[in-house]
Amino acid sequence: MQDCFKRNIDYLRVSLTSNCNLRCQYCMPEQKIKQTEEMLSQKNLIHLVELISSTGIKKIRLTGGEPLLYPNIEDLIIRFKAIQGIEKIVLTTNGILLSNKVDVLKKAGISGINLSLDCIDKDLFREITRGGDIDKVLLGIKLAQKENIPLKINSVIMQGINEKEIIPLIEFANCNKIDLRFIELMPMNVAKNFKAVKEDDLKAIISKKYGALKQIDVFEGPAHYYQVENLSIKIGFISALSHKFCANCNRLRLTSTGMLKPCLHYNSGVNLNDLLKKNVTDEEILAIIKDTIYHKPKNHHLENEAFSQKEDKSMSLIGG
Ligand code: GTP
Ligand code: 5AD
Ligand code: SF4
Repeated sequence: MQDCFKRNIDYLRVSLTSNCNLRCQYCMPEQKIKQTEEMLSQKNLIHLVELISSTGIKKIRLTGGEPLLYPNIEDLIIRFKAIQGIEKIVLTTNGILLSNKVDVLKKAGISGINLSLDCIDKDLFREITRGGDIDKVLLGIKLAQKENIPLKINSVIMQGINEKEIIPLIEFANCNKIDLRFIELMPMNVAKNFKAVKEDDLKAIISKKYGALKQIDVFEGPAHYYQVENLSIKIGFISALSHKFCANCNRLRLTSTGMLKPCLHYNSGVNLNDLLKKNVTDEEILAIIKDTIYHKPKNHHLENEAFSQKEDKSMSLIGG
C-alpha cells in the first residue's frame, strides 16, 4: 500500500534477533547487550509477517543482529515464501555461519544474500569484528556462489580504520563478480566513535584507480549504482546522510520483539506482540499496521543529535 507521501511500501525487513556472533566495533559494544524485552515466538512472528504482508508486501529481507543464529531459519523462509504476494525472500548476514547453511537456504528458496564485509585483510577483520575469522566468511561466499545464489557485498568504510581496504575490497568483488555497495556509516550508538568516509571521497578514490563512474538507473531501495570504466561489477552507495534517500523509501521493519517500525531512524512504532498478547483481533491489528504505514515519516531523524545519541538506537536492535 501507499503511505501518505505516495511511496509504495512493499518491502518488509524482519529482524530475527538482536544477537550477533560478531561484535563489530562500530555496531556493537564489547559486552553482550542483555535483551530485556520478550522475543516474538515463531508462531507470532509468522502470524505477524502474514498480516503485514497482506498490505501488499512483495519482498521480505531477514536481518538481525545475525539472522543465521535463528534456529532453523530455513523453515521461516519456506513459510514466508508461501505467503500470497511474496516474490522474494532475501537475507543480510555477516557470513560467519553461511558455509554450513548454504544448501538449506538454497533448498528453502532464498532469492539472494547480502554479505557484510568491511575488509579483506584477515587481521583487520579480526580487529574490527573483535575476533571474527574471515576465512569462514570467504568459504560461505564461495559455496553460495557455487549454488548460484545472487550475492552483494556491503562495506562500511571508516576514516583511519579500513580506508586502505577500499581497493582490495573492489578487487575481491570484481574477481568474484559480486556487486559491491559502500554504506556510509550512520552516527548512531557506538558508531559515533568513528568517522565515515563519504561517498564523494570514495568516488574520487575509485575513479582515480578504475576510471569514470557512470550512474545506472536501478531504482531499488536506498542504494544507487554505478558502472565503472575498468570494472565488470556494479558499485553502489548507500549514503543516508550525504545522499538522503527517504523520498524513495519503500520499507517497513519488524523487530525481533514485535515492534513495527516505519523508519530505521525515527522514534515511532507499535509493538504488535503486545497487541497479540492482549487478544486484539486480527482486523484491529491490520488496521493499526495500515495506519503505521500510512503515517510513515517523510524523513529520518538521523541529523538530530539527541535522537542518535539514544542508547537503544543500534542497528542490531532495529535490524540494519
Ligand atoms: P537490497 O534489497 O538488495 O537493495 O538491499 P538493502 O540495501 O535494502 O538491504 P541491506 O540489508 O543489504 O542493507 C544495507 C544497509 O543499507 C543497511 O545495513 C543499512 O545500513 C542501510 N539501509 C537499508 N535500509 C535502510 C533504510 O531504510 N534507511 C536507512 N537509513 N538505511 C538503510
Ligand atoms: N551505519 C551504517 N551501517 C551500519 N551497519 C551497522 N551499523 C551501521 C552504522 N552505524 C551495517 C553493517 C551491515 C549492516 C547489517 O548494517 O555493516 O552491513
Ligand atoms: Fe554483527 Fe553485523 Fe553488527 Fe557486525 S555489523 S556486530 S556482524 S550485526
